[in-house]
Amino acid sequence: MRETASACLNDHMTIRVLDGDDPTTIDLLLPGFRATMAHDLPGDPPAPPALLARLLQRRRGTDRLVLVVFRGERPVGYTKLGMDLHADLQRAHGSFWVFPDERRAGAGRELLAAVRDEVRSRGRAEVLVDAPRTPAADAFAATLGGERVATNVRNRLSMRDPVPAVGETGTVRLVRWNERCPDELVEAYAALQSGVDAVVNGQARSAGLSVADVRIAEGEAVRAEHRQYAVAGLAPDGRMVGFSTLYVRDSPLADAGQTVVAPDCRRRGVGTLLKRSLVTWAAAENPQAVVLQAWNPQDNTAILALNRRLGFEPDQVWSTYRFPV
Ligand SMILES: CC(C)(COP(=O)(O)OP(=O)(O)OC[C@H]1O[C@@H](n2cnc3c(N)ncnc32)[C@H](O)[C@@H]1OP(=O)(O)O)[C@@H](O)C(=O)NCCC(=O)NCCS
Repeated sequence: MRETASACLNDHMTIRVLDGDDPTTIDLLLPGFRATMAHDLPGDPPAPPALLARLLQRRRGTDRLVLVVFRGERPVGYTKLGMDLHADLQRAHGSFWVFPDERRAGAGRELLAAVRDEVRSRGRAEVLVDAPRTPAADAFAATLGGERVATNVRNRLSMRDPVPAVGETGTVRLVRWNERCPDELVEAYAALQSGVDAVVNGQARSAGLSVADVRIAEGEAVRAEHRQYAVAGLAPDGRMVGFSTLYVRDSPLADAGQTVVAPDCRRRGVGTLLKRSLVTWAAAENPQAVVLQAWNPQDNTAILALNRRLGFEPDQVWSTYRFPV
């Protein structure tokens, strides 16, 4: 698509749309992605291919855009954006990275211009980008017409330490599953997820989530070589009152999924109980998993308090930047 001639032929920048589900895209971007993670998230273990595959894969209910900026034939940065097909129709939301050795040479500016063209051509009016809050990100956004619109905290929990015990929750019975929610629970599971309408970077909102949607999302995790762990709580009458999920991969770093408690059952320790049971179970089965990471909006006091009680500690501040197209 976009090409910029420059004085030196080797410096010729091009932008290409690539398929995030194509293994050759993962191979192409993996060295730069690893260098970027080591530079921008220095406390993290080396990023495995499954992490990049998970980040770039097409997700349920979204249109996916992966744009890569090349200098000659060398990829020097990329953006991946998700566009919800049913809600938030004006926006595209994702991440935007220039590889560390390639910064301050115009690649970011070039890539953002291409993103704006592409996103505009798809009928969207704004791009949201999540990134660690740094002076570079702030300056880049300020120079190119962006603004910071939200703050998220990355919290981390050591999976090798015992998770603190939590209070009794009386009669809640716990059930567990991995890849596939049992058929007899899946409708209640979909209904409970539908109640959460948080905006998650690059993913579709979950309002109106159907059983078929749950099955599609389960398949996505398997496809990207992630193993899901899920624990749900059932009341004595069998009603599902909450659930909590996480994902492990071939890496010391695991990702928190969602924790949801039915509105009328909140403030009774159910969420803490579910997440504690989940982490203890996943840690016992995955000796390679050392750290569990969770991103939480700075103003979500409920989940921040729950995570703190389990031993999560804040590790990095991320911003969401908004760029009108
Ligand atoms: C932010 C980032 C994408 C910039 O990429 P880049 O290729 O270095 O940016 P460019 O060279 O195109 O810079 C464009 C303008 O942004 C500003 N800028 C970029 N990096 C800057 C820095 N480290 N300090 C101050 N200003 C900076 C400058 O005004 C620059 O123009 P100039 O070089 O003519 O002065 C890159 O640093 C990065 O990947 N950071 C980590 C992830 C991230 O923050 N993503 C974007 C969040 S909005």
